[in-house]
Amino acid sequence: MLFKQQVWLRQKLLVLGSLAVGSLLYLVARVGSLDRLQPICPVESRFGGAHNQAEFPLRALQFKRGLLHEFRKGNSSKEQVHLHDLVQQLPKAIIIGVRKGGTRALLEMLNLHPAVVKASQEIHFFDNDENYAKGIEWYRKKMPFSYPQQITIEKSPAYFITEEVPERIYKMNSSIKLLIIVREPTTRAISDYTQVLEGKERKNKTYYKFEKLAIDPNTCEVNTKYKAVRTSIYTKHLERWLKYFPIEQFHVVDGDRLITEPLPELQLVEKFLNLPPRISQYNLYFNATRGFYCLRFNIIFNKCLAGSKGRIHPESKRTLILTMVLIYEENFLAIPRDSVATERN
Ligand code: A3P
Repeated sequence: MLFKQQVWLRQKLLVLGSLAVGSLLYLVARVGSLDRLQPICPVESRFGGAHNQAEFPLRALQFKRGLLHEFRKGNSSKEQVHLHDLVQQLPKAIIIGVRKGGTRALLEMLNLHPAVVKASQEIHFFDNDENYAKGIEWYRKKMPFSYPQQITIEKSPAYFITEEVPERIYKMNSSIKLLIIVREPTTRAISDYTQVLEGKERKNKTYYKFEKLAIDPNTCEVNTKYKAVRTSIYTKHLERWLKYFPIEQFHVVDGDRLITEPLPELQLVEKFLNLPPRISQYNLYFNATRGFYCLRFNIIFNKCLAGSKGRIHPESKRTLILTMVLIYEENFLAIPRDSVATERN
């Protein structure tokens, strides 16, 4: 009887002991994970310290990666969000387009900067009437968590070509910074066509050749009614934006250069956004298999863009491309790139 009681007691102690050790381990892990987040949030900010561009929490990139990972996955408790003073902020800068200009690459590369937090998805708030009707709070709630000193950036390339968008963005924030990334217009149009073609092929649908769509068969001139062509007439769209925003609020990124030599383009954007220069060559490495620059957060984390970026373009008639380039050249060069030029000098 006594022996039985001893065994029962020993079992109980064993269970209690494991529970205690388990709880201890959990506590250590949890405090450890909070500690890891702690250094990246300056104490002053928790008490609503004055905002100063030079005081961005310039933590190491691996910390940022860890932070975003935790909060995105919804692992954050309300207390964590509160403790770290995290907020969902309206964007201070928007990549408004141009579709297939390299908008995703630009957003991902800017997100390497510790003071930048990207909205991962395209929100389509200003170009979609249904979303817009949901109101600005709906839009804000779509934004990622960030520290008050960080800036949120979103990209929705359809903004650039949608009639109502400039006015709507102006109503939200008339001093917002606007980023436009452009590529040589014919290449951009073909890239646009290639994306649509891929969708059609996936649905087993037949589709016209690019030259058939891009050239009006009656006039043998460039068909500006074809959407892929129309989008590439950058100045036509930009005119609408300039009715609401002064040129100083725009920065035009050279999308062709972002492919071959991304760092100088990113440094210009850092300057435009009044951010201290933090993206370096270390963060960008050329991946020969992909044929593009990829992103390096630290010794462990790196990533290339998805395979849908960098598609092989179908062959198009060289003469046609030359014609289009010549026609476009005028409007491409007419893009007011004053702000870019001054920054480069
Ligand atoms: P292609 O697929 O025609 O090559 P967007 O993100 O606006 O849709 O633009 C897609 C384009 O981004 C791609 O067009 C690709 O050329 C370009 N791009 C620029 N930098 C890139 C990078 N580092 N990795 C992959 N694609 C990149």
